[in-house]
Amino acid sequence: MALRNIRTIGDDVLTKKSKPVNEMTDKIRTLIDDMLETMYEAQGVGLAAPQVGILKRVVVIDVSPEGDSPIIMINPRIIETDGEQKGGEGCLSVPGKIGTVTRPQYVKAEAYDENMELFEIEGTDLLARALVHEIEHLEGMLYVDKVEGRLCDADEFEQEEE
Ligand code: NI
Repeated sequence: MALRNIRTIGDDVLTKKSKPVNEMTDKIRTLIDDMLETMYEAQGVGLAAPQVGILKRVVVIDVSPEGDSPIIMINPRIIETDGEQKGGEGCLSVPGKIGTVTRPQYVKAEAYDENMELFEIEGTDLLARALVHEIEHLEGMLYVDKVEGRLCDADEFEQEEE
């Protein structure tokens, strides 16, 4: 495993659409391992392949407080959403910033796992937010375009919440 360089806003690769993964290869397995290591090292809750410069439809997420529940998603797709949540959102590609974004409160998605077996996942709260955020990366979208009001410095945003 190796850490990969996280691309930041302004890098063209973040605005491009990613291509589906057709088969599991050693290269994709290494990409997944590296993405997990990179996400944990950066203390993020999700990372999409374009954020490490690879335009493939691969996402990793871990919203557990312990960081011991990785979710690996190949070719993920949202199949159902419900409700609404409004809250602070950040992105490893937009370091030090947080903005308010409205997202569905409930999300059901499907994806292939690292064995290319189809699975479904349901999430609420942070997991629902992460699912939508990460899958949008695969379309070349960044949350900053959906921020309501101002994109804040992370420490400044915390003060507003107090
Ligand atoms: Ni992001």
